[in-house]
Amino acid sequence: MSINVSDPGGRHRSPLRAFARRALALGGAGLVSVTGVVALSGTAQAAGTPLGAAAAGQGRYFGAAVAANHLGESGYATTLDTEFNAVTPENEMKWDAVEGTRNTFNFSNADQIVSHAQSKNMKVRGHTLVWHSQLPSWVGGLAAADLRTAMNNHITQVMTHYKGKIYAWDVVNEAFQDGGSGARRSSPFQDKLGNGFIEEAFTTARSVDPAAKLCYNDYNTDGVNAKSNAVYNMVKDFKTRGVPIDCVGFQSHFNSNSPVPSDYQANLQRFADLGVDVQITELDIEGSGSAQATNYGNVVKACLAVTRCTGITVWGIPDKYSWRASGTPLLFDDNYGKKAAYTAVLAALGGTSGGGTDPGNGGGTDPGTGTKSCTATYAATQTWQGGFNGQVTIKAGSAAITGWSVKVTLGAGQTTTGVWNGTTSWDSTGKVMTITPSYNGALAAGASTSFGFTVQANGNAAAPAVSACTAS
Ligand code: G3I
Repeated sequence: MSINVSDPGGRHRSPLRAFARRALALGGAGLVSVTGVVALSGTAQAAGTPLGAAAAGQGRYFGAAVAANHLGESGYATTLDTEFNAVTPENEMKWDAVEGTRNTFNFSNADQIVSHAQSKNMKVRGHTLVWHSQLPSWVGGLAAADLRTAMNNHITQVMTHYKGKIYAWDVVNEAFQDGGSGARRSSPFQDKLGNGFIEEAFTTARSVDPAAKLCYNDYNTDGVNAKSNAVYNMVKDFKTRGVPIDCVGFQSHFNSNSPVPSDYQANLQRFADLGVDVQITELDIEGSGSAQATNYGNVVKACLAVTRCTGITVWGIPDKYSWRASGTPLLFDDNYGKKAAYTAVLAALGGTSGGGTDPGNGGGTDPGTGTKSCTATYAATQTWQGGFNGQVTIKAGSAAITGWSVKVTLGAGQTTTGVWNGTTSWDSTGKVMTITPSYNGALAAGASTSFGFTVQANGNAAAPAVSACTAS
């Protein structure tokens, strides 16, 4: 099938001085420990927030379509592993890839991607079970009853193989026509089984892996138009009649002929209001520079503004491997350099740019919007016989904050010999310390700071309990 655009198939004030002052006060083992913490803090800032981590801070995933044959390329694998926390096999789970011959299943390429993702704790979107394209010719040759059997068998075999490993399946892909008719697209499934093939596919899918989210996925449905209205009416009907459907995927392949619609967010929202999750499943935007960056930023902001928009997947990693490489539609250039579009996405996700792309204040000029919030993440940064240093990273949410507060509860027998980059007040038990900022209370949206403390273990090396972060 030929596919084209209309048919795409905180600022961190250096803590060095404060660390040095407290390190001198601590002395001995404490001095060694504190030095270690400084090094870690510097590294983290230089690297910036990865896209996946920034999205996770917003309760979303940020994924990429992945091709198994590129996983051996170090730049590709490193970028995938560093930046993304979800994957979609670009072609490896399609019908022609897994069941080219009837009832002979070959999962080897798809398995490579799923194993890789699992080893990195990434979500996997399954793409796709029933689609008119990349469909082996034997399927099209079947008579209706046999086709029904083959479709349900395909869904059952593939979903059983990956049961428990897939976050969401594109159960049916691109079943509606372009243009104003709102009609279903001609395909062996539509032509021989009629409209009911879609709900039959979803019902079968639910029975095989009840834990997987079941999505309908399409393109040119990104704004309110005849095609998206037709999909909307189908989803509404499914919800009314109890046909299992959990999510709708909006592919979001954009370029100048098919720009980001002005009602993109409103369209996502109206679907979400039907009681399904919405996901941006195949995002790519042709172009370059600031225009491309602005479009990418707007797409991310639209998703974040819709509570049930659970994640975004870009359709590839470097431009050179895009299905439309000449349009340079992705976030990384051919050498895995971060494009302006990357920086815009990260900023929209509330992440902090690192190194050379940082405008100089870690994104601190953006006051952000919305409710003040923060997260607290604990890590042991150094351990030794008898004790350890703990570090808590505080990260502001999508709005700037001027203060934060976190409670740290020491374990039985534990005492602390020093706290840095935070002001401490103890409760009456002497076990719970409430830490508030020293100099580091003001954080731009998405920016981070950290405080640390040294614990004498007294036989208990367990991590202290760290409460949720309270922002002000
Ligand atoms: O792997 C073979 C190779 O062995 C052979 O020599 C070569 C010759 O044509 O073809 C290679 O396969 C190609 C495959 O991509 C892997 O590169 C297919 O021809 C080509 O058709 C296929 O294109 C894929 C396209 O779906 C097929 O419809 C694109 O990679 C993939 O990005 C694209 O993805 C679709 C989504 O699944 C659904 N939504 C639209 C989206 C973009 O078209």
